[in-house]
Amino acid sequence: MSQQELIPVLATSYNLKDYEEAYRTFDWKDVEKAFTWHETGKVNVAYEAIDRHVAEGRGDKIALLYSDDTRSESYTFAQLQNLTNRFGNVLRKYGIKKGDRVFIFMPRSPELYVAVLGALKIGAIVGPLFEAFMEAAVRDRLEDSEAVAIVTTPKLKGRVPVKELPALKHVILVGDNENIELESGEISYHSEMQHASDDLEIEWVDREDGMLLHYTSGSTGKPKGVLHVHNAMIQHYQTAKWVLDLREDDIYWCTADPGWVTGTSYGIFGPWLHGVTSVVRGGRFSPEDWYQTIEKNRVTVWYSAPTAFRMLMGAGDELIKKYDLSSLRHILSVGEPLNPEVVRWGLKVYGLRIHDNWWMTETGGQMISNYPCMPIKPGSMGKPFPGIYATIVDDQGNELPPNRMGNLAIRKGWPSMMRKIWKNPSKYEEYFRLEPWYISGDSAYKDEDGYFWFQGRVDDVINTSGERVGPFEVESKLVEHPAVAEAGVIGKPDPMRGEIIKAFIALREGYKPSEELKEEIRQFVKNGLAAHAAPREIEFRDKLPKTRSGKIMRRVLKAWELGLPTGDLSTMED
Ligand code: WT7
Repeated sequence: MSQQELIPVLATSYNLKDYEEAYRTFDWKDVEKAFTWHETGKVNVAYEAIDRHVAEGRGDKIALLYSDDTRSESYTFAQLQNLTNRFGNVLRKYGIKKGDRVFIFMPRSPELYVAVLGALKIGAIVGPLFEAFMEAAVRDRLEDSEAVAIVTTPKLKGRVPVKELPALKHVILVGDNENIELESGEISYHSEMQHASDDLEIEWVDREDGMLLHYTSGSTGKPKGVLHVHNAMIQHYQTAKWVLDLREDDIYWCTADPGWVTGTSYGIFGPWLHGVTSVVRGGRFSPEDWYQTIEKNRVTVWYSAPTAFRMLMGAGDELIKKYDLSSLRHILSVGEPLNPEVVRWGLKVYGLRIHDNWWMTETGGQMISNYPCMPIKPGSMGKPFPGIYATIVDDQGNELPPNRMGNLAIRKGWPSMMRKIWKNPSKYEEYFRLEPWYISGDSAYKDEDGYFWFQGRVDDVINTSGERVGPFEVESKLVEHPAVAEAGVIGKPDPMRGEIIKAFIALREGYKPSEELKEEIRQFVKNGLAAHAAPREIEFRDKLPKTRSGKIMRRVLKAWELGLPTGDLSTMED
């Protein structure tokens, strides 16, 4: 650990001038003045992100610069207002109303953004689903949330098991144009949009009303629905100002998909609450494509993730020289530990510091960050956002002194804090079991200068390429395969992806270990759950370590894998 290494501040013209001063004096209440509802009392995050800019004379400004391999389009705030109004009317026409869950399951496209904001405008709770999810993952989420509608594409609709979902009344299909084949109960997005009125009465909601339902994994059980409310906009706005350092003329690119919380909090709300132009690039990652996206759009602020930076580093420094990246002025990273060498490399090749920050689906917004006006200690996640009290506690909730590792905890009550785990109050309370703390599930320590250092997960949750995968979900899928008797899944350290998923499998009688079988099992998880949840490594074992009550001991599997001592085995069966 090189805590003494400091990368100094590069310039002085940032939105946040003095972190320590702000930390002492900041009050969330002051941020409320930035919103229309402070005067009118009428709350809706979609109004603040879109309509308000039109009302204040910024309607002709570009909101969205979208491109993929076949499309290249731009949309002004006025155009987005028109489209989201239409989509709100389409939903209303089918009886969808405030509080209903509307899921969005499609690849990144302008229509995805219109659908999210249009649904929010009528007060619906939006559930974004990552396009890679397969049928089982889609079913679990729609079933748990009792979604009434899903917006998807002709290509993906096969993964929505409509017949098994009694609450699901409407399937809205986004094809390439109006002419798509519809089965009964299906609605064509484009043809409805043609005919819908662009005049919409926005549903004014309470600040505490539901806005987004993001499903995320824990170490046990199915994914949980994390509910965020409109009030979260206060945090999205202020962090976008001080952490993303957004200003009026910025061209901002967040590389995350809205299926994950970074892609909503900072791919939709952060930039648009500030009326900033946002770049969305569809399709898959490639270094050439990404650098081209920066060059072509003249991106100034770039928010991405460690795995992507590591892959860009792997693609080599020569490649960078082929592109004009001079528009960049601020780079950020989230989702997994950002290696100090990546920060040093970034400084060398981009001439800029990569600013790591820490938060999670449950926190709804950035909590601990490196600020442009603050020296960076490579490897540290930075310091708590003003208005946030972060600390390290032991297992009883007692605060620990500097440099002691423990549970990363936040004092309960911040604007974008989750308000519920859908239909699961006991899971929600677990996070808050040590009053007054929110227990994150991460371990960390704080150094004597107040910088936080990530140490790992306390539970078995896996972080592969910044995507959070619950081992239980993968294990449940694995044992559905006819050859698999038992399965235990762990995260194995990996230089590129942070962790990869490794499965230990005991086969049923009559099955022989083989490379073909491994591949078949891998495909089974990929096709049943999601590509990112499929184990990259599989190891067959005659028997798996279990407790006497039959629980697979992942900690023992991990110790085997890493060649470490297995620790206390007193609960293990013979
Ligand atoms: C988990 C949350 C909201 C951001 C996207 C991930 C890990 C997040 C960092 C960081 C080390 C990090 C934690 C956290 N994580 N940021 N800067 N350094 N680890 O959201 O899917 O809810 O995952 O990601 O383990 O608990 P998520």
